[in-house]
Amino acid sequence: MPEGNVESKIGNVTGKLAPLGAASTPGNRVRIFDTTLRDGEQSPGCSMNTPEKLRMARQLEELGVDILEAGFPIASTGDFEAVRQVAQQAGDTITIAALARCAPADILRSAEALEPARHARIHVFLATSDIHLEHKLKIGRAEALERIGTAVRLARQHVEDVEFSCEDSTRTDRAFLCEAFQTAVQAGATTLNIPDTVGYTAPREYAEITALVRRAVGEGPILSVHCHDDLGLAVANSLAAVEAGARQIECTINGIGERAGNAALEEVVMALRVRHDLMPYTNGINTELLFPTSQLLSEIIGVPVQPNKAIVGRNAFAHEAGIHQDGVLKNALTYEIMTPQSVGVPTNMLVLGKHSGRHALLSRLEGLGYRIEAGQINDIYRRFSELADRKKVVVEDDLVRLMQHHEQSLPAGV
Ligand code: KIV
Ligand code: ZN
Repeated sequence: MPEGNVESKIGNVTGKLAPLGAASTPGNRVRIFDTTLRDGEQSPGCSMNTPEKLRMARQLEELGVDILEAGFPIASTGDFEAVRQVAQQAGDTITIAALARCAPADILRSAEALEPARHARIHVFLATSDIHLEHKLKIGRAEALERIGTAVRLARQHVEDVEFSCEDSTRTDRAFLCEAFQTAVQAGATTLNIPDTVGYTAPREYAEITALVRRAVGEGPILSVHCHDDLGLAVANSLAAVEAGARQIECTINGIGERAGNAALEEVVMALRVRHDLMPYTNGINTELLFPTSQLLSEIIGVPVQPNKAIVGRNAFAHEAGIHQDGVLKNALTYEIMTPQSVGVPTNMLVLGKHSGRHALLSRLEGLGYRIEAGQINDIYRRFSELADRKKVVVEDDLVRLMQHHEQSLPAGV
């Protein structure tokens, strides 16, 4: 743990991210590629219409994402229109990406949708695992390489910034994976994405694959990671790949995405920030906008965030156990590794329930304006415990009533 003041002990929590400099070189800047509007939107119940996508895109731009994947233009007229309008409204500091299969019609449609963008990226993908080649695409490896080369070359005729993904990378034969990426680089791809499409890999293996791809393609292209959460490992896998050389993370707000979802942007970013001592990488995210962004997405798609969701869940900064509440009241660092304010949550919350102790109860009562004499504490706490046994959460109205009963029970003149 670094020496120094309390803030540095919790890992650069409240300060601004270190500027690019000696300890933070361009080489350790991680690009945040947000795919909430594409992969995220593909999850059941999470679709968005164009005005909703535009609203979300504005928020993501303010949040500071580097690349925003706005949709899959060939999929529908609505998706095309949404990508086009997002590209139109986007400012100068963000790149807008559109997805395309290795098919001319897809690539041309993406190029057309991206025309208004100041910085545009076509993201081309093809599955490379034998299981996908044989059963889904019904083509051999040679044909796959042919399609990759042709598609990336076509995309490069329209934009300078072309990303290529080997779908199902983690179940692809390693030598063929390297060959596929080398083909993409020769055709002009500038970013290579290694998706764990089915959420199958584990951190050590994913780091090995990333390092292997790096050796195969050299230092030129940016390596990117895209992890699904089928085994709950999406964030851990993404971070392991960064340590192995990846410098772009594809992720979504609230972790929405196909099946179990994608790596959650807020988790990746806060892990990098809180454990900067272990993972000395920087990014451009304004972390104080994480919670408002999560809330906005939840409101737009009508899907609530699970209460115990890391960083942005309702309980992420709530404490109920008496020992925890006592600790937090003495010093929040006892049970908090980041401040709520650092992610845009106004304050932590001491939830009064049957696990709460005297310290939290008195602190809340004092907050409500009551001055409690030492001799009254036991009676008030006994009444509170009885109530908390009956009610899951004791709210302020309950406390006011409890204090009225307590005061009525006092002998006259007290
Ligand atoms: O999961 C996946 O493989 C994808 C690709 C299209 C990048 O979403
Ligand atoms: Zn995906």
